[in-house]
Amino acid sequence: MDYQNLLVADRGAVRTITINRPDKLNALNLRTLQELDAAFRAAREDAAVRVIVLAGSGEKAFVAGADIAELATLSPIDAQAFSRAGQILMRGIERTNKPVIARIQGFALGGGMELAMSCHLRIASEKAKLGQPEINLGVIPGFGGTQRLARLAGRSAALELCLLGTTIDAARGQALGVLNRVVPADRLDAEVDTVADQLAAAAPVALAGILDAVTVGADCPMDAALEFETQAFALCCSTADMREGTQAFLQKRKAEFAGR
Ligand code: COA
Repeated sequence: MDYQNLLVADRGAVRTITINRPDKLNALNLRTLQELDAAFRAAREDAAVRVIVLAGSGEKAFVAGADIAELATLSPIDAQAFSRAGQILMRGIERTNKPVIARIQGFALGGGMELAMSCHLRIASEKAKLGQPEINLGVIPGFGGTQRLARLAGRSAALELCLLGTTIDAARGQALGVLNRVVPADRLDAEVDTVADQLAAAAPVALAGILDAVTVGADCPMDAALEFETQAFALCCSTADMREGTQAFLQKRKAEFAGR
């Protein structure tokens, strides 16, 4: 697919997908949702990619939400398709078996906050602003925000943010558990690179096992989730990387994981 609204770049095993509509604060129109779906599909299928960073271009915004100009024209049937397209994209990101990091330098509002919450880790600048302001437009979050925010930050915070449409700063986002790390703006890229490099050097089957167990397990009864964890743990023990990791520890050297 030829991307009109995305930039894709690789640095070693780290693929960065950047939403590139800075004049619209990277707002998510249908075309951008479709391109993101294709870009994540390609990243999932490429064995050379071990970590994905999702970013928005420009200084001001990660993503300022669903494209309100497009939203304004939606019929109910179009709106169902739009909501489902966003939900399928974001569930796909959440279920990606490689770590996905959201790099948040500014606004992550509405669909932008929903997109960030579908990633596995969120690293933000102190200047980041988060919120679910859909109520101010007479709608509700439609890309999974009501569910993921409640799961990440709890029911009370989810209701507050969605009902009041309040925008919160990065410190509150971190206190709520939505943001994993908050750093000064000029250290954001270095922090994202450090975390991405650490993940790129880790054992991929074990990373996938953690992502699967945490995400799938959250929707299962405890006994089923624990059984899932056991099977993912056992799968790790079939890998060359497990032998390398344990031997490296015993031999007091740094492990080199080959991804097998
Ligand atoms: N959809 C479509 N266009 C958007 C957008 C969105 N969600 N958010 C910003 N834009 C556009 C603006 O219309 C403007 O375009 P223009 O220059 O052609 O008029 C451009 O991006 C810059 O935005 P602007 O509002 O001028 O920047 P600002 O610094 O004054 O305000 C925000 C920044 C984020 C506070 C403001 O843009 C905003 O409230 N955006 C909508 C947030 C929202 O409600 N998101 C949920 C959508 S469901």
